Amino acid sequence: MSLEQSLSAEEQYVDRLYSPDAVLEKIKQQTAAHGMPDIAVSDGYGRLITMLVSMNKTKQALEIGALGGYSGVCIARGLQPDGHLTSLELLPAYAEVAKQNVTEAGFGEAISYIVGDAKQSLAQLVEENKRFDFFFIDADKEGYQTYLEFAIKLANKNALIIVDNILLRGRILNEQKQGPAVRAVREFNINFASDTRLESTILPGYDGLAIARVK
Ligand code: DHB
Ligand code: MG
Repeated sequence: MSLEQSLSAEEQYVDRLYSPDAVLEKIKQQTAAHGMPDIAVSDGYGRLITMLVSMNKTKQALEIGALGGYSGVCIARGLQPDGHLTSLELLPAYAEVAKQNVTEAGFGEAISYIVGDAKQSLAQLVEENKRFDFFFIDADKEGYQTYLEFAIKLANKNALIIVDNILLRGRILNEQKQGPAVRAVREFNINFASDTRLESTILPGYDGLAIARVK
């Protein structure tokens, strides 16, 4: 999946059971070709995201952190026929690559990008009284708690909130690691698990995935 991420034998075994996904593989290649980091969500969690979007009959989805459009396609694949994904991306160059990739994958109409600081875009969406059925948080780790608060504000009842990388490639358990992102995600995880507004679980496979339903 990501930057020198070593997958366990079990993760590799499970991944091998699935045939390569040509569309998603191409997006990974294009993303790398543009010099962007190789940090798309794991293949296994990408499949889970498509399933959750679909099971929740999602019409409006919101993603925070587009990268090259890999997760965008995973989300768009599960949307209802008239569904839409709004994708927030800080960097114009990344949004451009993502737009190109998802258009090539056939989801150009289903996904729109808002470029800029996600906190401002989220405040704007709150201002506009927008509501969403599904959220995928996969941006700067220090912003996770703020993004979760915005997601809850913007959520329809029973909306799903998915959060990537809550293990930070092992750093979360390494006491030597005390950087701001690691500290923020440690605190985020504790708060997430005890948040009474949510019904949740956390999957420890790959780089960790937090999943919640807004009560
Ligand atoms: C990394 C992976 C991610 O998926 C991400 O969103 C940010 C960082 C990483 O492995 O460094
Ligand atoms: Mg991620």
